[in-house]
Amino acid sequence: SKEKTKVMEVFEGIPLPVALFSKENLHFASKFQFQDTDILLVSYPKSGTHWVQQILSLMLNKEDLQNQNNIPTFTRAPLLENFSFQKEWIKIPEPRLLTTHLPANFFSNKLKNSKVRVVFLVRNPKDVLVSSYHFHNFSKFLPDFNSFDDFFHHFIEGKVCYGSWFNHTKSSLGVWHELNSFLITYEDLSQLSRTWAIFLGQKLEPDDMENILHYSSFSSMSQNDCLNYSSSIDLFDHSKGKFFRRGVTGNWKEHFSPEQNDKFNNIYQEELGDLNFKFDWSL
Ligand code: A3P
Repeated sequence: SKEKTKVMEVFEGIPLPVALFSKENLHFASKFQFQDTDILLVSYPKSGTHWVQQILSLMLNKEDLQNQNNIPTFTRAPLLENFSFQKEWIKIPEPRLLTTHLPANFFSNKLKNSKVRVVFLVRNPKDVLVSSYHFHNFSKFLPDFNSFDDFFHHFIEGKVCYGSWFNHTKSSLGVWHELNSFLITYEDLSQLSRTWAIFLGQKLEPDDMENILHYSSFSSMSQNDCLNYSSSIDLFDHSKGKFFRRGVTGNWKEHFSPEQNDKFNNIYQEELGDLNFKFDWSL
């Protein structure tokens, strides 16, 4: 039934929709053999993953921008824990661009002894919460919530798809400095810099940069039918939203009540206050 497809089950502490994930997929992902040339993008969902997948894949394929732009980002940078990964991974060209929404601790032991380049992407969690709220409504495979407040409470308790943002982020911050890694935020993605290209071992001319900026802009990506999921009618209810929704920072201010904001700030302080890590967003 329709309801059944919206059920989430907890796998290794992480709630995931049963319509898209199985224990076997997660097991395969956690046992995956990386190679030193791999580039792994680690993000909590709704942090701008598709944006970064686009930028990285275009940087790696600067000779072939137009063709790349016509291949879905989930094919160019597949999700390790996705049900189709087990069949598809063998076809990924090198250097392999891979993505995971699982917390870094799933892979950190393996990555510590490797040269795998790991890109950690983090976004202001208030904007992640809002984006995720809309995404849960828009997705046919995720549970519905009665109201924004209902979703808000599930999110801060980690009872949403992929679990707690706080645990995910603590996991990343706990290991990123021990890995061959790069930590970026959604908030500074618009200041796309050449440092990225250096990290990827690519030499980019000003023209390449300009083209990559163009193809990775919100307007270009949201209008591209190969990227915007407009034909994925099994997964998404397009009468309820868009995959490329707003693409801005600070949208939480239009959703959070003063009470929700206080509550969120307190929890943020409890969870991440001790880490002494300053992100470039404002809460
Ligand atoms: P909003 O819902 O706030 O608009 P993910 O790819 O991890 O699922 O993240 C999706 C979020 O990133 C959405 O946020 C989406 O609009 C935003 N996004 C995707 N591509 C973008 C781009 N090129 N520029 C800015 N934001 C982008």
